[in-house]
Amino acid sequence: MARRIVLTSGKGGVGKTTVCAALGRALARKRKRTLLVDADFGLNNLDVALGMESRVVYDIHDVAEGRCGLSAALLTDDASGLKLLPSTRVDCGRLSKNVLASILARVDDDFDFVLIDCPAGIDEGFHRAVCAADEALVVTTPQPGAIRDADKVLTLLGTYRLHAVGVIVNRVRGDLVVEGRCLSADEIADVLGHPAMAYVPEDDAVAICGQTGAELSYAPSMRAMSMLADNLVDGGRKLYDCTDGYRGVFGRLKMFLRRQI
Ligand SMILES: Nc1ncnc2c1ncn2[C@@H]1O[C@H](COP(=O)(O)OP(=O)(O)O)[C@@H](O)[C@H]1O
Ligand SMILES: [Mg+2]
Repeated sequence: MARRIVLTSGKGGVGKTTVCAALGRALARKRKRTLLVDADFGLNNLDVALGMESRVVYDIHDVAEGRCGLSAALLTDDASGLKLLPSTRVDCGRLSKNVLASILARVDDDFDFVLIDCPAGIDEGFHRAVCAADEALVVTTPQPGAIRDADKVLTLLGTYRLHAVGVIVNRVRGDLVVEGRCLSADEIADVLGHPAMAYVPEDDAVAICGQTGAELSYAPSMRAMSMLADNLVDGGRKLYDCTDGYRGVFGRLKMFLRRQI
């Protein structure tokens, strides 16, 4: 039976889609049968994050309306083997939470992990995505507004019967943490009061790879995603040290140079 995990946040632009794509690829690389579902209707971009946007023929709306079977709508990422169920390109308010949940119930035996990319906000699209899941990962960044929205979302998630709810702190600037100018990922997870599942550093490779949908490789953020995949698979709690590289003589030199540009 597949583990259905929704990636949510409240605030937009904190990295849900980025994490969904990279985590999906990391799980697929670990030979886990992985399906990504773009539940961000209207403002969908998971296909873009995976570099698959030109290959979309059918989408979730076509499946819901019976214009094609589910397997016809699924796209395969050639490098990792993960599958994507693309979102509808029109804002599809008519696609109810029951319909999404029933589409996903059909693939329960075909996948180990189903990751659901949730829209920002806490309105209908949020509830539709959460209803289809049995676990949640709440993504935040160190910005106070993002932490506050993550807290609100965590409170809302408490009204659902979810097996597990974890926190991902994304875009952590290790240099600012070492200088004491920014909350550390540990402090943010403590404030939110839920288990930390991943700390992901701010990483230029994300922006560069995001332009083409290329897979992140050997980048610090990819190491963090791989640790997250391990945590999900084996129940561990390995967390990437985002301050790594900013300590000692060379770390201080790196911070000094970073301030000059
Ligand atoms: N760890 C990171 N380091 C650098 N940039 C990131 C990181 N995570 C996400 N981003 C960038 O942040 C922006 C928003 O990410 P996205 O995944 O679309 O957010 P959301 O799905 O929550 O709206 C994108 O431009 C993405 O490249
Ligand atoms: Mg998104």
